Amino acid sequence: MATERTLSIIKPDATRRNLVGKIIAKLEDAGLRVVAMKRIHMTPAQAAAFYAVHKDRPFYQELVEQMSAAPVVVQVLEGENAIARNREVMGATNPAQAAEGTIRREFALSIGENSVHGSDSAETARQEIAFFFSETEIVG
Ligand code: CMP
Repeated sequence: MATERTLSIIKPDATRRNLVGKIIAKLEDAGLRVVAMKRIHMTPAQAAAFYAVHKDRPFYQELVEQMSAAPVVVQVLEGENAIARNREVMGATNPAQAAEGTIRREFALSIGENSVHGSDSAETARQEIAFFFSETEIVG
């Protein structure tokens, strides 16, 4: 198994409800290590650029509004198979379909306000990490 890095975002619905610590505890319990972290308030332009891959989807506008409505916590997570492991602990995008014990099952409000984002592939992880962090900000 390979040590990987992935990008995690704790979304506005979760920062508003003061769930940052509880979510990070679940990530750490899953064997992931936080190697970079910051709390930021994204502008609509930043959120639009980050989610540009979804620009033709019907939920894009709402997604951009939600992601720029309040602060988020962006993190680089490191560990064995970190990309898949993070997605496993997050649970399915739709919290109604998320497995017991996952972050989204426990905390998400809806498919849009689903508490966390995680990179979906090695290539996406590289791009998403570089979107928020410089190499010197990542300290394993
Ligand atoms: P995320 O993993 O951040 O990736 C894209 C986001 O779009 C997703 O989580 C949801 O927050 C949001 N979204 C809203 N509606 C949908 C939908 N129908 N399908 C997928 N993602 C959606």
